[in-house]
Amino acid sequence: MENKKVAIITGAGSGIGKAAAKRFANDGYHVVLNGRTESKLNDVAEEIGKEQALVISGDMSKPEDVENLINKTVDTYDRVDVLINNAAIFVGGTIDEVSLEDWNKQLAINATGPFLTIKNAAKHLEKSKGSVINVSSVSGLGGDWGAFAYDATKGAVSQLTRALALDFAPKGVRINAVAPSLTDTEMASGVMEDDKTMTEFKKRIAMQRAGKPEEVADVIAFLASDDARFMTGTIVPVDGGLTASNGQPKL
Ligand SMILES: NC(=O)c1ccc[n+]([C@@H]2O[C@H](COP(=O)([O-])OP(=O)(O)OC[C@H]3O[C@@H](n4cnc5c(N)ncnc54)[C@H](OP(=O)(O)O)[C@@H]3O)[C@@H](O)[C@H]2O)c1
Repeated sequence: MENKKVAIITGAGSGIGKAAAKRFANDGYHVVLNGRTESKLNDVAEEIGKEQALVISGDMSKPEDVENLINKTVDTYDRVDVLINNAAIFVGGTIDEVSLEDWNKQLAINATGPFLTIKNAAKHLEKSKGSVINVSSVSGLGGDWGAFAYDATKGAVSQLTRALALDFAPKGVRINAVAPSLTDTEMASGVMEDDKTMTEFKKRIAMQRAGKPEEVADVIAFLASDDARFMTGTIVPVDGGLTASNGQPKL
């Protein structure tokens, strides 16, 4: 097997993960595509070119699936250089609406997933002096109305990024995160298709539009690159200026 760098991308079948897979493949990486729906991953692998993409489906909330993802990657390529923890689900709702089952499922995918992938990939990342990029959210920096459970998972991702960056720095592994705001993907389709909601979003996003998945993928690629070699433990907003505001209204 040719000794190209290897990037593992969870949630690579759509949206930001798919854009990241294409960007890293373009940058010359072997990309390992993970998600629960194999057909979506096969389509992305087809687009990228099968010689550069490896599909390993699995549910990142299940320890055995995470183990399988990392082990098969190393069996195939003998290295892991970049780990992109992007897989997540969104379950909104108020305290009366969110069940314990919803809470546990969302926490398991969005927060336990990155914990498990990093735990399993750690020794390989230490060997390659690699880097991790977690996909947090502006919802992991401040709160949203009606989405406390999602926000709690993204808060966990942000803090896991900062604290693990401290532990891994002496080992030569960098851990950073991106914090997108509204991005035009399947996850945000309900918002994107609703004119009234979009009008409200545009009042809060300085650049007055949703981000494109590629615009997030480009920042992920920067964080993985040598240009970001002195950056670790950062949460980089990719948000069209949303977090530039202190929250007071435009008058
Ligand atoms: N879109 C936004 O406005 C926005 C804003 C801020 C942050 N984000 C974050 O950006 C990341 C990517 O989301 P997206 O917007 O690109 O949405 P998306 O298109 O829904 O992508 C999420 C991907 O994660 C996969 N996934 C879900 N659960 C999984 C699991 N248990 N194991 C493995 N894969 C799983 C899904 O595929 P399967 O269902 O086939 O598994 C899907 O391809 C997420 O972390 C999200 O929280 C999104």
